[in-house]
Amino acid sequence: MTQDQIVLKENILQPEDFVRLRIATGFAAVPVEHAKRALEGGLINVSALLDGQLVGMGRMVGDGAMYWYLQEIIILPEYQKMGIGTKIVNYLIDYAVEHSATGTFTTIGGVSAKGKEGFYSKLGFDIIPNGIKKMIEI
Ligand SMILES: CC(C)(COP(=O)(O)OP(=O)(O)OC[C@H]1O[C@@H](n2cnc3c(N)ncnc32)[C@H](O)[C@@H]1OP(=O)(O)O)[C@@H](O)C(=O)NCCC(=O)NCCS
Repeated sequence: MTQDQIVLKENILQPEDFVRLRIATGFAAVPVEHAKRALEGGLINVSALLDGQLVGMGRMVGDGAMYWYLQEIIILPEYQKMGIGTKIVNYLIDYAVEHSATGTFTTIGGVSAKGKEGFYSKLGFDIIPNGIKKMIEI
């Protein structure tokens, strides 16, 4: 596989596929209706296609002007470590820069899953100890 064979498409991701990719990489299953609302409420989602087949995704949430957060950068296990995640994150970074309101700087954040910090640091992200996260059982 070469990088040229990977096609990135904006905002075509179906909620069922979003759920499928989450489950395939060990994230919790969410109801499809919930996934649909999440995609609709995000700023952008990107699907990575190889020969027309979905092999990865990434999305960004935030205010669309100053603050951007990476969410669910997910590559199916058999397609990992081939540069697809990098391609998706760089696409999302370009999107944030292009749509940034200040014209001088913009802030892209996110929470790295445990053990994935190396992936983000290779993409130029600082690994910060003072991120905050609260999970509430509902
Ligand atoms: C983490 C993930 C998105 C990386 O995507 P990927 O397509 O496999 O990554 P790439 O091939 O673009 O890797 C880019 C670089 O990061 C490195 N890298 C990838 N995963 C890494 C990890 N878990 N730890 C450290 N480095 C990692 C690669 O070795 C590569 O380095 P190189 O350029 O020196 O060879 C992917 O493994 C994945 O979907 N994992 C499961 C879901 C997940 O946890 N997502 C993160 C949510 S925060």
